[in-house]
Amino acid sequence: MRHDPTTPDFDEIIDRRGTNCSKWDQMQAVYGVSPDDGIAMWVADMDFRPPACVQRAVEEMAAHGIYGYAASDAAQKEAIGWWMDRRHGWRPEPGDIFTTHGLVNATGVCVDAFTDPGDGVVLFTPVYHAFARVIRAAGRQVVECPLALQDGRYLPDFDAWDAMMTGREKVMILCSPQNPGGRVWSRAELEGWAEFARRHDLILVSDEIHCDLTMPGVTHTAMTRLDGVADRLVMLTATTKTFNIAGAHIGNVIISDPTLRSRFAARMGALGLSPNSFGLAMATAAMSPEGVEWLEALRSYLDGNRRLFEEGVAAIPGVRPMPLEATYLEWVDFSGTGMTREEVLARIEGEAKIAVNHGTSFGLGGESFQRFNIATPRARVAEAVSRLQAAFADLQ
Ligand SMILES: Cc1ncc(COP(=O)(O)O)c(C=O)c1O
Repeated sequence: MRHDPTTPDFDEIIDRRGTNCSKWDQMQAVYGVSPDDGIAMWVADMDFRPPACVQRAVEEMAAHGIYGYAASDAAQKEAIGWWMDRRHGWRPEPGDIFTTHGLVNATGVCVDAFTDPGDGVVLFTPVYHAFARVIRAAGRQVVECPLALQDGRYLPDFDAWDAMMTGREKVMILCSPQNPGGRVWSRAELEGWAEFARRHDLILVSDEIHCDLTMPGVTHTAMTRLDGVADRLVMLTATTKTFNIAGAHIGNVIISDPTLRSRFAARMGALGLSPNSFGLAMATAAMSPEGVEWLEALRSYLDGNRRLFEEGVAAIPGVRPMPLEATYLEWVDFSGTGMTREEVLARIEGEAKIAVNHGTSFGLGGESFQRFNIATPRARVAEAVSRLQAAFADLQ
């Protein structure tokens, strides 16, 4: 099915069921919510088609019909330079960029390259669940530093974290913008993290996969724009969240420090990692003027979904969504309902029939929260809001 190359229609309901799609085809098995009448608001991908330039790139490959090895990822690196310069005010050197099979893979290679078994890797929780999974699977220790929660918003808590460090920590992973919680860290907060990394001699891995998905008017600061951090900085970036091409499994690790870069390169070589040609073609096509235009339309659409969702659930007594500054992942606190976690989930999954990511999977601090993905047509967000209001109607 071809779509209009110029005007994305984010309102179009596209049935993803039966396409081997994690978000819709696994909701029954994982949450017991049927895709027949349930709403999938968990996995972090969008129910929208990517920009037409991405679709054309795939169609060109399919029309050619030969799927051999890619010659090089140089065109993608050129496109990354153009994109980062235009959108985020920094231009990586092509030689500093590695292409990985996505950023969970990149996290695994970082853990391998920069730590030894038993070493500590610091996370600021609640945070994206795959970090802890990868660190533990590699036989390293997860050091959970809980974010401070103040007036319904997360803040760093450096004094408390300083007291937790033992000297066995080697790496910290910062999620910037933050998933879940949707914070876009201020420059001063990022300076604080850079200082924390220096104080404890940690390699600073900055996962900026959500950097393009800021709400209109909100500006993300890339960690590379800070002074005095380059000698310990590992940047993780990707096109996959921005353009909804996560199945392409492609991401980038950008390292300007030569020593860190050669350690990372050695692990990439040892694991035999080289890019997937579909991912390269899709990502390269996306980082273009057409991609920019599509992204601006998307951000404005997501902002509309955000307003609808946040106003709707905030109307339920005791339920508090965290104001979203970036991402399409609403982090909602149910502690004010006075209900147990089980009761809250019984209402969300059993009554409202909505599959969400459980707050507990994001580590310390996530216990009373649930995460809702609002990157879906607005009519579906409206339906989810009215089902939630009905499921908690006795609180009105
Ligand atoms: C912070 C963060 N990093 C990485 C990923 C996943 O990256 P990939 O699909 O490239 O493995 C996600 C997905 O939600 C994420 O939120």
